[in-house]
Amino acid sequence: MPPPQPRESDALSWIREALRRRGLPGALRYYAAGTLELLRDLTPTRRKSRYSDIDYDFDHGVDTTWATVSLRTRIRELLSEGQYQPTDPVLFDQILNSMPVPVEGFTFLDLGAGKGRTLLMASKYPFRRIIGVEILAELHQAAQQNIVRYRDAQQKCFAIESHAGDARCFRFPAEDLMLYLFNPFPEPVLRQVLANLHDSLLAGPRRIYVIYHNLVHEDVFAEQHWLHPMRRTHQFAIYEAVAQR
Ligand SMILES: C[S@@+](CC[C@H](N)C(=O)[O-])C[C@H]1O[C@@H](n2cnc3c(N)ncnc32)[C@H](O)[C@@H]1O
Repeated sequence: MPPPQPRESDALSWIREALRRRGLPGALRYYAAGTLELLRDLTPTRRKSRYSDIDYDFDHGVDTTWATVSLRTRIRELLSEGQYQPTDPVLFDQILNSMPVPVEGFTFLDLGAGKGRTLLMASKYPFRRIIGVEILAELHQAAQQNIVRYRDAQQKCFAIESHAGDARCFRFPAEDLMLYLFNPFPEPVLRQVLANLHDSLLAGPRRIYVIYHNLVHEDVFAEQHWLHPMRRTHQFAIYEAVAQR
């Protein structure tokens, strides 16, 4: 599979995009609110609370916590309008155990994979292969190191890849997919990614399930007539993609 084509992804292009999408007053409001949140996160109490997810890293010899994300990366997160936060391992198992079909033969794909924790957690399951795509190069590099370092006696899938790039430019592989989205994108990006997925499904009908975790833009999913809801809790929803025009 060809790697995703990296889109122009420097700070200036992100700012231009924010201005186009939000207008000047909206962009200024967005950056002001984000900067305030960033400053709040630097307080000792907040910093400490971010380490609450560190057990996973100790257990597996990796670095997937959001506590160690540098200030520079936090600023780049603000500009790219995403924020890294890894999925909780207990919830992840709950989600995979809720899949309506066995995962054998499927490729697990995480768009907005961050430091790659879900790629590692998915490797406990017998997926055909596992792919992550992350827009911030530094998080993608952390994911690559984690893939090498990861140790778990229960690991079943060893074909794991992380790619740097914008999910909007990702070409979906022509294979059965379980697509994982932990609310990674603002609404317009989510719409574009889902439109790309629909086009890919029409071009090559196959089994595709979409997991949406943290249901912030659930209304966007509700508009997609080709995505059939299969399971829903207050934390995640699972859809089956059905090829129809
Ligand atoms: C909430 S985190 C989820 C991380 C990981 N999926 C997990 O569940 O552990 C969302 C990630 O999406 C990334 N992201 C945001 N916009 C993106 C885009 N257009 N393309 C690829 N990744 C993006 C962010 O940088 C961030 O690392």
